[in-house]
Parts: sequence; structure tokens; C-alpha cells
Amino acid sequence: MSRKIIAVDGPAASGKGTLARRLAAHFDYAYLDTGALYRAVALCVLRQGQDPADTKAAVAAAQNLDMAKLDEPDFAAALRTAQTGLAASIVAAEPDVRAAILLAQRQFGETPPDGKQGAILDGRDIGTIVCPDADAKLFITARAQVRAERRWKELVAQDDSLSLAHVLADIEARDARDAGRATAPMKQAEDAHLLDTSDLSIEGAFAAALALVTG
Ligand code: CDP
Repeated sequence: MSRKIIAVDGPAASGKGTLARRLAAHFDYAYLDTGALYRAVALCVLRQGQDPADTKAAVAAAQNLDMAKLDEPDFAAALRTAQTGLAASIVAAEPDVRAAILLAQRQFGETPPDGKQGAILDGRDIGTIVCPDADAKLFITARAQVRAERRWKELVAQDDSLSLAHVLADIEARDARDAGRATAPMKQAEDAHLLDTSDLSIEGAFAAALALVTG
């Protein structure tokens, strides 16, 4: 039986990660957060004291990325900060960074780990570039103000000086960079289902996503 692939894309803090994890648990599929790969590349660059806009540094970090680092608690926690998110969108605009991690993402979809019968990948370009032949595609969105409030609630636990206005500005800057870049811009695939989670609870969004995926 051929493996199933579900592609979940959308802008920052749209709820795509939560939905993708829930769908993966529901179907017992493997799950890959591709944003974490770009965040990891960015974090390696930052920790080497280099600039995420330094193409050479970013490409070298992507080519040498050690996936095992993603499981180190300290590294994993640092991946989630606002600073790493912004740096991730800078390295992600570099075509050679994207090329360096494309194959690993495709392999995850084609041969999911642990003998799973399917894979769910979330990101910005899964339905368009990484897995254009995915069995189901979702594009998850929400109003920018709602996304900023969600992300602010997550981030303020680590840094209580962070303002909502600052998080909103970060999210808008990141969305503009992600949607505007020349290589693999964030966009809804023609055959993707659009789901706006602005006015939905997590349960409501999950039910809607499941209905779209199962047709
Ligand atoms: O969790 P959040 O939605 O804030 O972001 P993320 O999914 O962790 O992605 C961080 C950044 O990585 C994004 O702003 C994109 O610039 C980049 N990214 C990408 O270019 N392509 C992907 N497939 C996934 C993430």
C-alpha cells in the first residue's frame, strides 16, 4: 500500500502546527515540523555569532545541520523564541538553504519513520514544492491580530517584557518576507483547502480540518 502524505501550510501562528500534530495522532502518521528545520539553521548561525543574512554562513549551517540537535532540550527551547523565528525567515529566503534541506523533507514524506503508513508535514511550501503530489492539502490561516494574540500568549511565558504590538509587527514582517520571496514563497496550492481558524476553537478547527482531509 502506498504511503499517504498530508501537506499543511500557512502563515505564522495560524494554528497549523497544532492541527498537523492532532491529525498525525488521529491517523497514526509521522509528523514533521519543517519550520523547526529553518529555525535550527537560523539558531546555528546565531550561536556562531554570525548574521542570518550572511548567505555563506546560512548555507553552511543548512548543509551541516545535525537533525539530532532538534531533540536537545536546550536547543529545542531556543528554537521557539521570537528572535529565532525572525532569523528563520531570513535564512529561509536563501535558495541554497532551501535546497540543502529539501531532500530530507521529501524523504520523510515518502518513507515515514517508525514504519508509519503516512506522514504529515507542515510549513510554507509543502503543498507547492516539497510534496506537490500530497494526498490532501490544507492551507491554514487566521487574521493577523488573532495570530499575534496566540503567539504572544506562548512567548510571554518566557519573556514578560514582550508586547502584543511587537509580536504583531514581527508576524507581519515575517509573513511579508515569506510570501514575497522569489524561491518557494508561502502560498496556497491550487488544490489546497483553505481553513480560517480565526473564530474556531482548537477542537472546532480540528473537526473542520479532519472533514476537509477525509472529504
Ligand atoms: O511556528 P511559526 O508558524 O511561527 O513558524 P515556523 O513554521 O516555525 O517557521 C519559521 C520560519 O521558517 C517561517 O517564517 C519561514 O520563513 C520558514 N519556513 C519556510 O520557509 N518553509 C517552510 N516549509 C517552513 C518554514
